Amino acid sequence: MSPELKGRGRMIELRHLGKTYKTANREIVALEDINLSVQDGEIFGIIGLSGAGKSTLVRCVNLLEKPSSGHVFIDGEDITEFDRKSLLSLRRSIGMIFQDFNLLEQRSVLRNVTFPLEVSGVKRAAARERAMELLKLVGLSDRAESFPSQLSGGQKQRVAIARALATNPKYLLCDEATSALDPNTTRSILELLKKINQTLGVTIIVITHEMKVIYQICDRVAVLDQSRIAEEGSVSEVFTNPRSKIARELILPERIGASWQKNSSTEQQEEV
Ligand SMILES: Nc1ncnc2c1ncn2[C@@H]1O[C@H](COP(=O)(O)OP(=O)(O)OP(=O)(O)O)[C@@H](O)[C@H]1O
Ligand SMILES: [Mg+2]
Repeated sequence: MSPELKGRGRMIELRHLGKTYKTANREIVALEDINLSVQDGEIFGIIGLSGAGKSTLVRCVNLLEKPSSGHVFIDGEDITEFDRKSLLSLRRSIGMIFQDFNLLEQRSVLRNVTFPLEVSGVKRAAARERAMELLKLVGLSDRAESFPSQLSGGQKQRVAIARALATNPKYLLCDEATSALDPNTTRSILELLKKINQTLGVTIIVITHEMKVIYQICDRVAVLDQSRIAEEGSVSEVFTNPRSKIARELILPERIGASWQKNSSTEQQEEV
């Protein structure tokens, strides 16, 4: 599939990003002075406690949420300046998946995957062909005519991944994509994400509160704490020697008895 996806020189860059929600009676600061670069081809993790600002951050990357201050650069272009048309086209290059899958219940698996293609005006036969190719990639060729209610959680997430990839995105944003799944299913979805990263060259941002997700697939990680980045670095650096208080609180309990280093080194070498 699409060798051009492996091209170099793209990236996501957040500069002095801030987001304040204004509700009827108060202001909630969700992000403050976030500076972050996600390099081409990497799997970048963002961890933090509930309410830290993780979902807000990832929603600012495709401007589902409008930043209150700062800039979002994608492939060197400041997308906070984009008009509606440019934004719509940009969003086709950024896929997104969620904890609760967000499938269209009235549509078959196949028609869930063709949906973004229909919206982009792709002809029915071509859309169907592309969707079948993607269902094969995610291991669900035989469930094309099923409906979401007939699938397991892991299968639903595979459909959501296929749908997110339909428009050939360069980036995939995953907001707690495995949080509703059991450990074995989580593992198989993470292996699928890694395969997508390695074979299609898709750059992936993974948001999670589960440390094992980070050390199983991420190259680098940022730790968010109360709307700010507390620390960032390679997964091995941050997990071996967490410097911030929040990173120590999140990471050290997971390490006790879990031997994460052993897991991470074997899993990173594993073929998927
Ligand atoms: N639409 C909104 N309106 C007002 N406040 C919001 C809105 N969305 C998020 N917030 C607030 O912004 C802060 C960050 O929320 P966010 O959803 O980004 O956190 P999170 O790290 O993703 O948490 P979780 O792990 O629970 O998903 C929270 O205080 C939240 O209440
Ligand atoms: Mg969230």
